[in-house]
Amino acid sequence: MPKFNKPDEGSWTEHFGLATTPSSYDDSISPDFYELERDAVFRKTWLNVGRVEQLPRNGTFFTKELDAARTAVILVRDMAGEIRAFHNMCRHRGNKLVWNDYPREETSGVCRQFTCKYHGWRYGLEGDLNFVQQEQEFFDLDKAAFGLVPVKVDVWEGFIFVNLDPEAPPLRESMGRLGAGLEGYRFDLMTQKHTYRAEIGANWKLFIDAFMEFYHAPVLHAKQATEEESRKLQGYGYEALHYDVDGSHAMVSSWGGMSPPKDESMVKPIERVLRSGLFGPWEGPDVGELPPGVNPSRHPAWGIDSFLFFPNFMLLLWKPNWYLTYHYWPTSYNTHIFETSLYFAPPQNAFERLQQELAVVTFKEYALQDGNTLEATQSMIETRTVTEFPLCDQEVMLRHLHTVTKQHVAAHQQAQPGTPVRVSAAS
Ligand code: FES
Ligand SMILES: [Fe+2]
Repeated sequence: MPKFNKPDEGSWTEHFGLATTPSSYDDSISPDFYELERDAVFRKTWLNVGRVEQLPRNGTFFTKELDAARTAVILVRDMAGEIRAFHNMCRHRGNKLVWNDYPREETSGVCRQFTCKYHGWRYGLEGDLNFVQQEQEFFDLDKAAFGLVPVKVDVWEGFIFVNLDPEAPPLRESMGRLGAGLEGYRFDLMTQKHTYRAEIGANWKLFIDAFMEFYHAPVLHAKQATEEESRKLQGYGYEALHYDVDGSHAMVSSWGGMSPPKDESMVKPIERVLRSGLFGPWEGPDVGELPPGVNPSRHPAWGIDSFLFFPNFMLLLWKPNWYLTYHYWPTSYNTHIFETSLYFAPPQNAFERLQQELAVVTFKEYALQDGNTLEATQSMIETRTVTEFPLCDQEVMLRHLHTVTKQHVAAHQQAQPGTPVRVSAAS
């Protein structure tokens, strides 16, 4: 594994072979580019749709809308305990198979078979069509040929992924070196889950941009610290402990002075009382040694690592042993659904529960501040008044994201004979 500390000379940006010239946001304001991304990115890559705890026993299922990948899927644990994925579509006349009151809303539950609401065709959890209403009315219907259409599914460290590309490389290989470095982390112990979901009026990559740099933190989140502390933070500015990329995946490692704070006067009174805050409860559970990919620079001031597993799954591991996930599900070139879940070890008493609750609501405050800038940015970059934007070295992972996205699109176009390549792979 390479040594990760910041190169003594030059910049992170040059270190990763990225351009230092101003960046274009064409890839975030173009409906045409979004249509290309749907096929080149979202139908080609492994997409994390949930965790194994959502399928705790045989017969449990949940559905997932994958608008960007032009489908919707069912995830189910079949009667043999195996996790399977299918397009959520009845083979009779194409009705969405599993939904409750609203066809575009996701759902979950437990059952022994799926029954279509339209004409009552029934499917086993292995996807086999096992009942056709008035079967004798059909013409030589071979039920064996009308099972649910399967989707490639795999599990990494308890995270369930699907891939719409039957030729896709195995999930573990796709997780690359950054994924391998996290294997063994005790995700399985952290089952106390809190989720937020928001509809965002911005391109999906803009929100990742906001979470892959902390250059904004001392300014945008100034009100989260005491006034004096906030002034100090702005004076220091921000510098990450470490950045790394592996293929399309990326990570940033950051300091964590707030958990616990060096000086309790840095934080708000409620944080002092509950010994918790954005960085989580000050004393987390003991989960043993962390895998080598966490805090890769082994910095003593380490507090949090943010991993982006391309395209839209972010995993944030915090020093007091809890984690959170971000997912960005595009619904158009300038809208997406943002989902975030915070995972803690189940609290052992009421105080621990309150500590976790404080982290959850504090996090929401930060996320709202981050989210608020997005529509403001999207609406103005769409005016094309300005088309090139200077990015600093602490924004290196934004360059990386936009560069690899364009590369995926360019590669996909090249693979389509007769299609003119309209997208440059340069950043
Ligand atoms: S569309 Fe499903 S049974 Fe007819
Ligand atoms: Fe932020």
